[in-house]
Amino acid sequence: MMVPFLVILGATLIGSLFLYLFPTFLANFLPEQNLFRKYGGSPHTRSLWAVVTGGSNGIGLEYCKHAASQGFNLLIIALPDDCLAAAASTLRTEFPGVLVETLGVNFRDTSLCFGGTLGERLRTWIKDGHEVALLALNAGVCLFEDAAWGTPGQLDMLHINVLANMHVFTALYPTICQRDTAGRRGGVLFTSSCMGCIPDPYGAGYAASKAYLASYALSLGPEAALHRVDVLALCPGFVRGTHFTRSLPKGGLAVLAALRLISQTPSQVASAAWRALGRWGVYTCETGLFGWLSHLCVQYAGGWLLAGAMRAAIPWTPDYRRHIRDSPERCQRSR
Ligand SMILES: NC(=O)c1ccc[n+]([C@@H]2O[C@H](COP(=O)([O-])OP(=O)(O)OC[C@H]3O[C@@H](n4cnc5c(N)ncnc54)[C@H](OP(=O)(O)O)[C@@H]3O)[C@@H](O)[C@H]2O)c1
Repeated sequence: MMVPFLVILGATLIGSLFLYLFPTFLANFLPEQNLFRKYGGSPHTRSLWAVVTGGSNGIGLEYCKHAASQGFNLLIIALPDDCLAAAASTLRTEFPGVLVETLGVNFRDTSLCFGGTLGERLRTWIKDGHEVALLALNAGVCLFEDAAWGTPGQLDMLHINVLANMHVFTALYPTICQRDTAGRRGGVLFTSSCMGCIPDPYGAGYAASKAYLASYALSLGPEAALHRVDVLALCPGFVRGTHFTRSLPKGGLAVLAALRLISQTPSQVASAAWRALGRWGVYTCETGLFGWLSHLCVQYAGGWLLAGAMRAAIPWTPDYRRHIRDSPERCQRSR
């Protein structure tokens, strides 16, 4: 009785590991695709545009470089600051044959989205004859704070990471789908995070925002395939060499210093996107060792066990003691 039970259990475990690892690993290790050609671009007759939110730095800038190196013209949507101007100038110098346009907007600005201005500007831009074949929704920020502090940053983060990106999506996705009538494909990339699938105490707002994007992609993928549009939510582990950690507490987080050892570069993440988009029916894809380990932990240990272990460990962690327990915000509240 015991032996058949163990055989069935073992086969189930190995089967589920295979079902996860096989497509994900394949998508991560296949050669990069030429998305410009795949989506019907031609250097002489048909120019295509890639739109990248948060394309002025880090992973988004690498998406821009990948797209431009294949021949896409670029519209970069990011904060209207020096980074945006510098990124556009670097891309124009590195890829002289490519047109680079910028749209400086602060995704924190709710009136821009809910007043309809952002969508309207993008729809006018499309009417001006820009053919978008690739959309990367990547702008994002993260916070490490106790939700009990109730800072406006929590709502700002939801707006930047989810709502503003979804406004861009809503304005551009229909035109990408319409290309199907002429037999042309297109692609939509979401930059989610492996934190969207594991418990992230003091980063609850961030984790939930990233879970939204991954979940959206998983449901959109099969529907978009009927319009010949590839969809992928990339879920990287920790990525070094980006500006991402600037909104974290001063002095940084000890956990991130440890994660650096199994981190990736922005260029590796962009490369994974170019390998996986539209392949093997993969709609969400972890990248990097931390990304894979996170997924496997949730799959085999279960969220409840991970959350329970974190609950027990939190009071002993240096990040909790330094940035939460002894933080100025908490001291102020207890006065
Ligand atoms: N780094 C990681 O470890 C990691 C891991 C997993 C997932 N991710 C995800 O990857 C994406 C890119 O992150 P990254 O690491 O490349 O960080 P990054 O270097 O800080 O890039 C973020 C991009 O978003 C833009 N942005 C930030 N706030 C904005 C706002 N209010 N309005 C408009 N644009 C804004 C930034 O513009 P400025 O440069 O002008 O601020 C920048 O172009 C994020 O969605 C993040 O959640 C990152």
